[in-house]
Amino acid sequence: MSSATGPVSFFLFYFFMASGPFLRSDASSSSDDLIADACSRCSEANPNVDYGFCVASFESYPQGNLAENLTELGRISIDILTENVTGTRDFVNGILENESLDPYVQGCLEDCSELYSDSIPTLADAAEAYDEGRYNDANIYLSSVMDASSTCGEGFAEKEGTVSPMENRNNDVFHLCAISLSIMSELRRLPVQEATS
Ligand SMILES: *[C@@H]1O[C@H](CO)[C@@H](O)[C@H](O)[C@H]1NC(C)=O
Ligand SMILES: *[C@@H]1O[C@H](CO)[C@@H](O)[C@H](O)[C@H]1NC(C)=O
Ligand SMILES: *[C@@H]1O[C@H](CO)[C@@H](O)[C@H](O)[C@H]1NC(C)=O
Repeated sequence: MSSATGPVSFFLFYFFMASGPFLRSDASSSSDDLIADACSRCSEANPNVDYGFCVASFESYPQGNLAENLTELGRISIDILTENVTGTRDFVNGILENESLDPYVQGCLEDCSELYSDSIPTLADAAEAYDEGRYNDANIYLSSVMDASSTCGEGFAEKEGTVSPMENRNNDVFHLCAISLSIMSELRRLPVQEATS
């Protein structure tokens, strides 16, 4: 027995050494391909989707690399958006704690806080509609969150010389909404077989 243990474990060692890296790189490259392919199609179809921003958003999100198909990737995009909107609401509320804000800016920030707070339950509705395949409903919910990000920015733009501390956040939310909306229109265009593979 003792003489057989050596060669067997030697064989197993090489088996795992040889197959391990292949299995790992296969798994990650197929999800990289899915992300790259989805972001490429969405950025071609929708001018509000930037390819680099799209890939970076999925790659930097822990679950982003686990998606196995476009339907799952679309669902993950709604999670990414929800986290972003929640972070943005917290960011506005943090600025509002400052007691020496310019009154005009304070008014704008209060509007933004309300817009983003209302967007959180709207995104829960969007996720539920998405999970049930009600893409038209999900589209309406996501479009209203996209509008919220624009409306937040418009307040600051209405008074000349006002600096918006929300600009980057609004842009992120706007572009993340565009990704989710664009994936849904891809899903609707694809034949069922391709969407499920
Ligand atoms: C929002 O998303 C953008 C793009 O992925 C990211 O750079 C930013 O850090 C996110 N912000 C929050 C608060 O999640
Ligand atoms: C509060 O707002 C004022 C006016 O915009 C600004 O000058 C100051 O740096 C802010 N304070 C903090 C702690 O952010
Ligand atoms: C996508 O992948 C998930 C997980 O493997 C699977 O449950 C689902 O049926 C696949 N297809 C669609 C269209 O969701």
